[in-house]
Amino acid sequence: MKSFYLPLSAALATLSIALPTDEAITKRATPIVYLAGDSTMAKGGGGTGTEGWGVYLPYSLSLTVVNDAIGGRSARSYTDEGRFTTLANTVVSGDFVIIEFGHNDGGSLTPTDNGRSDCVGSGDETCTTDAGVVVQTYPTYLTNAAELMTAKGAHVIISSPTPDNPCETGTCSYTPSRFTGYCEIVVSNVGSLASFVDHGQYLANRFIALGATTVDAFYPNDHTHTSPEGAAIVAEQFVKGLLCADNPLAAYVKNTTASVAGSCI
Ligand SMILES: *[C@@H]1O[C@H](CO)[C@@H](O)[C@H](O)[C@H]1NC(C)=O
Repeated sequence: MKSFYLPLSAALATLSIALPTDEAITKRATPIVYLAGDSTMAKGGGGTGTEGWGVYLPYSLSLTVVNDAIGGRSARSYTDEGRFTTLANTVVSGDFVIIEFGHNDGGSLTPTDNGRSDCVGSGDETCTTDAGVVVQTYPTYLTNAAELMTAKGAHVIISSPTPDNPCETGTCSYTPSRFTGYCEIVVSNVGSLASFVDHGQYLANRFIALGATTVDAFYPNDHTHTSPEGAAIVAEQFVKGLLCADNPLAAYVKNTTASVAGSCI
């Protein structure tokens, strides 16, 4: 037996030297796309009559999509619950992680901290709640999360949040929230494996083109959560953003840029 094992271990030693990097060992034949976000992305959306856009994204991609978005979460609570750490432990080189937060990140930390609001700021500011909890900014939470993923060789796409119904006053208009600018800061903090999709602007442009009557019907319960029909368009406009930017994930999009509604920005 010994005479069998010795040459085998010698062969393995040669093999591991011959492989260029760890990446060659861990890379999957086909990447997986993971989604991290809130109810606007999650399966089941924000309750009865609504759906999250992550449910529709798979129709446009030739990759498996794992939707880890969960209602009610913010960059802060997704971090505090260990969900980014779990994702970072799951991804391998070449995988994609799409991160989209913002709807639960606003609000005040005092007098009552809901466990979701971030410290307001674009850098490494911190806030301390009345209960003594130190809270970081949105860019800090997402930069830390993205760096965990890119250290594994995964691509991270930081996506600006969907707009609340841009037509709710009867006239359609959109002004990006501060989270859009924060997303761009995260991408510049993280470097080349990170990229930005201005999902909020793409979707707002499309909804404004469709007009108030059509768009109001996409929001059956409130101004945040879309119907299944609306969510399909939310996914469509994320895909448009990938294609227009020639994002690395666009290589796995089934559709041509021209075939998807809307215009590049
Ligand atoms: C892309 O094409 C597939 C069919 O191949 C379709 O199901 C999907 O809705 C299309 N996506 C967009 C964004 O148009």
